[in-house]
Amino acid sequence: MANTFTIDGQTVPFQEGQTIIEAAMAAGIYIPHLCHYPEFKPHGSCRVCTVSVNGRKVTACNTPAASGQVVLNKTETLQQERRTLIQMLFVEGNHICPACEKTGNCQLQAVAYYVEMLGPRFQHFYPIREVDASHPDVAIDFNRCILCELCVRASRDIDKKNVFSLSGRGLKTHLIVNSPTGKLGDTNFDAQDKAAKVCPVGAILLKRQAYTVPIGQRFYDLNPIDVVGDAAEPHYGAKHHG
Ligand code: FES
Repeated sequence: MANTFTIDGQTVPFQEGQTIIEAAMAAGIYIPHLCHYPEFKPHGSCRVCTVSVNGRKVTACNTPAASGQVVLNKTETLQQERRTLIQMLFVEGNHICPACEKTGNCQLQAVAYYVEMLGPRFQHFYPIREVDASHPDVAIDFNRCILCELCVRASRDIDKKNVFSLSGRGLKTHLIVNSPTGKLGDTNFDAQDKAAKVCPVGAILLKRQAYTVPIGQRFYDLNPIDVVGDAAEPHYGAKHHG
C-alpha cells in the first residue's frame, strides 16, 4: 500500500514530507525524544529517538518517512541504548528528582521511566552550575539543562527575541543568556514567551507555581509518557484508544 511503512510490525500511514517520528506520533505510536518538538524544525541532537530503519540506525525526528520502510522502535537493544543515553544525561548535570519542583512534569524523568532506568550507572560529574533568579517571573536552574536547545529555538524562531544561546564546546557546552550581564532579568524575556513553556526539564521554571499541582497528581504521575505524550504539547503523541 502506498504511503505506509511499519513500526514494530504495525502499519503506519504517512503524508509526503512527514518524518518517521511525526507519522508515528500521529498514529499514536510513541518514539522517545527530548530535543524534538512538533512546532520546530528537527534538531537531531539528543539521539534518544534513534530507531532502526531497514537495519540501519537513524534518528526518527529528522528521517523522512518512506513507503515500505521497516522501522524497529521498541526493541530491547534500542531501549538499552536509549537507557545509556539517559543515564549519561543524568550524571552530566545535577538531576535530583525528589528535590526538583518539575518532578512528575519532567520529560527527562518520564523518558527515564519509559526506558526502565532504575538508577545511576556512570559516575556523577556534579558540575558546579548557577541558578539565575534575577527575573521577576522566571528562574533558570542551569543544573538541569540538557542542552536540547528548545528554549534557544523557541526564543529565536517564535518569540523573535534570541534570549538564549549555547556557548562552549564538547563537555564545556552550556546555555547562556544573551544580556550584557548574562542574567535573565536583564533581557526582555516574558513568562508568556514560548521559550518559557518548552523546557522539557526543570531548567526554566515559572516562579510561584512550583506546587500548584501536588506531587503525585502531575502529568506523568498519572500516566506514562508513551500513553499521554509530551507535557509541553499534551495532545502530541498521545496514544489513540478505541
Ligand atoms: Fe531526535 Fe533528539 S529527538 S535526536
